[in-house]
Amino acid sequence: MSMGTPVLEMKNISKSYSGGRVLKNISFVLEEGEILGLVGENGAGKSTLMKILSGGTQPNEGEIILDGRLIEITNPIVAKRLRIAMVQQELSLISSLTVTDNIVLGQEKRIGPLRTFDRKANEKYARQALKAVDLDVSLDAKVGTLSVANQQMIEIARNLIQEPRVLILDEPTTALTLMEAEYLLRQMILLKEKKTSIIFISHKLEEIMKVCDRMIVLRDGNKEGEVKKDEITRPELIKLMVGDREFFKRKSESKNSTGDVILETKNLSKKNVFSNISFQLHKGEVLGFFGLKGAGRSELFHSIFGADSVDGGEIFFEHKKVNFNNPGEAIKAGIGLVSEDRKFSGILPNMDVKDNILISNLMAFSNSVGVIREKSMQQMAESFIDKLKIKVHSVNQPVKRLSGGNQQKTMISRWLHTDSKILIFDEPTKGVDVGAKQDIYAQIKQFTEEGKGIVVISSELEEVMLVSDRIAVMKQGKIDTLLEGTDVDADVIMHHAAG
Ligand SMILES: Nc1ncnc2c1ncn2[C@@H]1O[C@H](COP(=O)(O)OP(=O)(O)OP(=O)(O)O)[C@@H](O)[C@H]1O
Ligand SMILES: [Mg+2]
Repeated sequence: MSMGTPVLEMKNISKSYSGGRVLKNISFVLEEGEILGLVGENGAGKSTLMKILSGGTQPNEGEIILDGRLIEITNPIVAKRLRIAMVQQELSLISSLTVTDNIVLGQEKRIGPLRTFDRKANEKYARQALKAVDLDVSLDAKVGTLSVANQQMIEIARNLIQEPRVLILDEPTTALTLMEAEYLLRQMILLKEKKTSIIFISHKLEEIMKVCDRMIVLRDGNKEGEVKKDEITRPELIKLMVGDREFFKRKSESKNSTGDVILETKNLSKKNVFSNISFQLHKGEVLGFFGLKGAGRSELFHSIFGADSVDGGEIFFEHKKVNFNNPGEAIKAGIGLVSEDRKFSGILPNMDVKDNILISNLMAFSNSVGVIREKSMQQMAESFIDKLKIKVHSVNQPVKRLSGGNQQKTMISRWLHTDSKILIFDEPTKGVDVGAKQDIYAQIKQFTEEGKGIVVISSELEEVMLVSDRIAVMKQGKIDTLLEGTDVDADVIMHHAAG
């Protein structure tokens, strides 16, 4: 294949944080009008490499060459001037500002001698930006009141409207519905046809294989490979990313739904959200909840968990009627929930990894006079980090310094040592790499062996089929069907979810 026109080159880039080197001698060339995939496990260094390119952080060594000239991208403003735009993994919108304000931020149009905010022109610009991603939200809405998916689309819109030459997308689809993700992928192909160069980070390899021309694989801060899409299969790509590793398989005989019933709902309803939800969860089983986004799954379990109210119906926990007024009561009774939204799960970004892991069980580490045994806490935290292979330099590192996927694993590890009887996982592997998913599935399996009842809410068909004994398919707030055994079939599930 002939080389296209090189636009940009990163050359021998190295980066260290206090904890050690996170990028080692990375070099690659980006061509005009290509989509370059950047893949690798959680903590491999993908976001860091792209932050260097967009001026968010500086390399310790290495060069960046744009159009044949050596440049220094000392801050995000320089990047913007060079028309390099990055959609960050963690949303960077300001929730208290309106949609318009967020889109025009940093490039507000002003008029008159007093340079007053030109409302009309700014709104026109914002409207154009929304149109480019086909998003229909009110320009005056405060961004914080919108869904995460809509916020993500606004973030993308405000970057696209600046017509970058180099567009970096760091896991842009994690919060999107299937349809929104498809739409975004189509937009990317259109941009590519207009000669925009795109660097695309994703753990969803279907997406990568669908739109990328080439892929770069990072592993532990090293460049593990550079491959053209046509020259590699998906399994080969996975192997490059994770090396040799055993993959979790669905039990052919899925019959764990015979244990004692630990949780039951009867006709549980909440107006306009879910209605007539009746199911039983048994000890030692994984009950999957599949559905398209908006089917009411998260809301249902938020209500059961006491984070929200219900309008009707009953909940039985260990055969006793319950009605938790808040999550604290549910946790005390023995129910744990890992939410899809890390903020809802109560991540404490400024606290260290150890405290984030142990928070749900700090009491257990107090001796009879209430003094916390620091050393056993440390050991406990270390053993969990080991178990879920969380990538940290030390247990005393603030959680916000971890890569996105490793933050998610930290949230899951919170429940490893509790006496919970039921654990509810909402999109447990969102933003988690292919290898780490296996660690989480294995851990879920172990929970069932300990006799816990597990609920896994997932929008990933493959995942829900792999881990569940039975699958409840939800549609528009109702359980459309409950499948088990040989009835668990991808076509059947999709038929009920979408049909
Ligand atoms: N500001 C920081 N201070 C210290 N260490 C950091 C900082 N930012 C990132 N790291 C470390 O650098 C490594 C690479 O992180 P990075 O966020 O680039 O990974 P990633 O490949 O994007 O992972 P993910 O897929 O989970 O998003 C991680 O070990 C992370 O803990
Ligand atoms: Mg990242």
